[in-house]
Amino acid sequence: MSPSAPMRLAVLVSGSGTNLAALLSAVAQDPDFGGEVVVVASDRPDAGGLQRADDAGIATVVEPLADHPDRAAWETTLRRRIEEHRPDAVVLAGFMRILSGAFLSGWPDRVINTHPSILPAFRGAHAVRDALEHGVRLTGSTVHLVDEEVDHGPIIAQRAVEVREDDDETSLHERIKHVEHELLPACVKLLCQGRLEVAGRHVRVRPT
Ligand code: GAR
Repeated sequence: MSPSAPMRLAVLVSGSGTNLAALLSAVAQDPDFGGEVVVVASDRPDAGGLQRADDAGIATVVEPLADHPDRAAWETTLRRRIEEHRPDAVVLAGFMRILSGAFLSGWPDRVINTHPSILPAFRGAHAVRDALEHGVRLTGSTVHLVDEEVDHGPIIAQRAVEVREDDDETSLHERIKHVEHELLPACVKLLCQGRLEVAGRHVRVRPT
């Protein structure tokens, strides 16, 4: 059962926002989801995710790093502007900036990230390209809670994607995104329903 008040979600995006779109569609289609997206924030004014948010009538925040003297000032402003929407949790859906402990402390065990590899392999901003260059036969998608280390926090779910002989970065990333579009909303739903129990690096999913 979902709690009576839906969990308020902030979604952070830097790119096209297909994961945001998948989340919005899951929320819209599932009466038991237990959450709602109340704000979409980006560090990039041209992020496609902002248009998707606008189209869905969701508030947006744009806060480019270059508008601030340093990262700390940028992050403080970003956090303050997100907090105006009183989110209970934050979803990083293709957000390509690192967030510090100061930011994360606002939502302990409630910042979730989707990453296009099977962590701990291929952390960082070029996970798909790095997997291809390494010649792995399997890569995939990881959804995890965010801690202060990049692409490191406790893992909620992972799913493998096969690498094909003729893959390039775009084709492989497309197939990984296809998986992410299921896995991220499913994990956010577990969070919204209060079903994630975190013990150190381990996340247990409480049965319904
Ligand atoms: C997704 O594949 C996500 O995993 C990746 O960016 C893409 C965003 O796609 N994130 C990272 O690489 C973070 N390290 P989208 O804008 O279409 O949702």
